[in-house]
Amino acid sequence: MQQELSGSPCEGRLAIDGGTPVRMRPLPWELPGTHWMGQEERDLVDQVVAARSPFRYYGPDLQGMVDRFEREWCAAYGHRHAVGVSSGTAALSIALSALEVGAGDEVLLPGYFWVSCVAAVVRCGAIPRLVEIDETFCLDPDDLKAKIGPHSRAVISVHMSGAPGRIDEIAAISRRNGLGLIEDCAQAAGGYFKGQSVGSFGDIATFSFQLNKNMTSGEGGLLVTNDDALHRRIVALHDLGYPRSNGRLDTGDENCQLWGQGARMSDLTGALALGQFRKLPQITGAMRSAKWRIRESLQGIKGLDFRTVPDPAGDTGPFLITLYRNAETCERMVQALRAEGITGGPGSLACLAMREWGLHWYFNIPSLTEKRSNDRSGFPWSHSENAFAAEYDYRRGALPRTDALFDRSALLSIASCLTDADVDDIVRAFRKVSAAVLGKG
Ligand SMILES: Cc1ncc(COP(=O)(O)O)c(C=O)c1O
Repeated sequence: MQQELSGSPCEGRLAIDGGTPVRMRPLPWELPGTHWMGQEERDLVDQVVAARSPFRYYGPDLQGMVDRFEREWCAAYGHRHAVGVSSGTAALSIALSALEVGAGDEVLLPGYFWVSCVAAVVRCGAIPRLVEIDETFCLDPDDLKAKIGPHSRAVISVHMSGAPGRIDEIAAISRRNGLGLIEDCAQAAGGYFKGQSVGSFGDIATFSFQLNKNMTSGEGGLLVTNDDALHRRIVALHDLGYPRSNGRLDTGDENCQLWGQGARMSDLTGALALGQFRKLPQITGAMRSAKWRIRESLQGIKGLDFRTVPDPAGDTGPFLITLYRNAETCERMVQALRAEGITGGPGSLACLAMREWGLHWYFNIPSLTEKRSNDRSGFPWSHSENAFAAEYDYRRGALPRTDALFDRSALLSIASCLTDADVDDIVRAFRKVSAAVLGKG
């Protein structure tokens, strides 16, 4: 590729300065699962519609799509239990309640996440405790150790942007300190860390199948656990607070009478999820291969660095994160790459500076920085059991190392259907723009 690309006619004046762009066509949409959606999903959904039985637990002619999806998922990734739910956000709330987290507890989580992570903590009455990320763009195990205190109860480790960070160390620290560990795998379905599937390091793991995820059913989520007792609670919590017997709610077990979230997965969603799940290795394989071809082709360019991925073979590949010497250089690189045609169509978020990545960063969430509440009492911030956290500050500056990474990093979405020509264009554009922008010091 190196040889083929050198001497490109596009080299020379940047498109942002009036030169010829590397490409004119927008990059394909970044939504990974959608490019692979086809007859298989249609057949499974049709089966549910033909049977007129879209509810998973009872109906005229159960098709068992959610059951099959859960079973096949467990067999593929080595989990003992899986429970399909309506979203990744609901899955996080259910996971925290399964671990009995509530007022008086602190949940440690990274400053780069998705708003759902911190929302789940606040809604269950606990206090979020922010932890720095490192250059893996996931929880920094050293800062995690430093932040553990008397109120710490659980950790949410979020496998951001397609790959886990130092999850083995995070799991060991959580275990040693008696903390529940939830792995949020919403952005890394189908990923591994040194041969072990994501979601198998902690007590419970959550997944999302919303449109932007490695596989999608439009909306949807999953919880996995190897613990029988936690599974029982998860089943009750995701439903109406009780287990079911022959499809009907069973209120008779005094050990399992809870408050449910009402977040069941329908069998229609299950059908779509099952079809997509069966393609997950191909989808992630395509993204991983394209992403690492780009990364490797750009190695050695001075001033262009990459996110650390501890286990590249386990990366699912939906994002390439690049790092620059400062915020201005990062901004200039992104603007120049877009002008070269490294961008999606209208509405796409294919090529961004991290400062455009909204509610993925703690200080961009007004409900957090302003300590908002859903009720008039100011719960959970006002709860007497949470008085220990009165001075916690969530505004920019709370995590200086995370803030610095935010300032100087950028994100390129790697579509799951990139052609060799698309990959070549991306490499050519990075080289052209780097030579002009980074070469200037
Ligand atoms: C890291 C992370 N956690 C949780 C969620 C929430 O998932 P959902 O949109 O299915 O509620 C998302 C995605 O939206 C996410 O990226």
